[in-house]
Amino acid sequence: MALKKLVAGNWKMHGLSSDLAEISTIAEAARAYPSVDVALCVPAILIERAARAVPGFAIGGQDVHQEAKGAHTGCTSAQMLLDAGAALTIVGHSERRDAQRESDAEVQAKAEAALGCGLNVILCVGESLEIREGGKAVDTVLAQLDGSIPPQPPEEAELAIAYEPIWAIGTGKIPTADEIAEMHAAIRGRLVERYIAPGSGVRILYGGSVKASNAGEIFSIPDVDGALVGGASLRADDFMPIVAAAAAVEA
Ligand code: 13P
Repeated sequence: MALKKLVAGNWKMHGLSSDLAEISTIAEAARAYPSVDVALCVPAILIERAARAVPGFAIGGQDVHQEAKGAHTGCTSAQMLLDAGAALTIVGHSERRDAQRESDAEVQAKAEAALGCGLNVILCVGESLEIREGGKAVDTVLAQLDGSIPPQPPEEAELAIAYEPIWAIGTGKIPTADEIAEMHAAIRGRLVERYIAPGSGVRILYGGSVKASNAGEIFSIPDVDGALVGGASLRADDFMPIVAAAAAVEA
């Protein structure tokens, strides 16, 4: 079953009010590709202004706290993201798993909190270079997936998985098509095992050095249902050719 492709940008810690015009340019250009879902996950402080600037276009957060409210200095709840106009959020990005020492259990709690209040979730998994070279990439990613996804298939909102090999993020290196195909097939298998029928409807995105020059090949790999794009999502000139590549594969 071919799923509609989702191309989401992760702006990470990039973006000031002067970049709102670029978000508008991307949202406007995305209207030419109705066969692809397009989203931008921007810094929390930009969400409200971005969402107001581009009504109907999916703006997302990059992290969420698992509690609804409380004494958690510097954190943002799912309700706050929704209230600001977000439609989705990333959880479990490797940069947070690493720098903020987020565990699988914490990522799972964040995903459940977000989905439970109607925010779509892109949940990230991915192995280090050491694990890849040690031949344990698939086992490691499936263990991460098992520990991080909600126990039941979500009904309130959409869960998507992003496979992002850590060594491919921001490096210009990407796995071979066979390695991506093997990992996405393994993730699909585990989702179907865990969620039965709904497991085949969960979109599995690839992330890590996706650019216009490699997007077409990546999108044609079975079970690649889109991309999570970092650096190449900051400018419409770099991002829109990736969206166009997704549309071309759909066609
Ligand atoms: P790059 O596309 O810059 O490699 O980043 C990937 C990523 O981490 C997206 O979440």
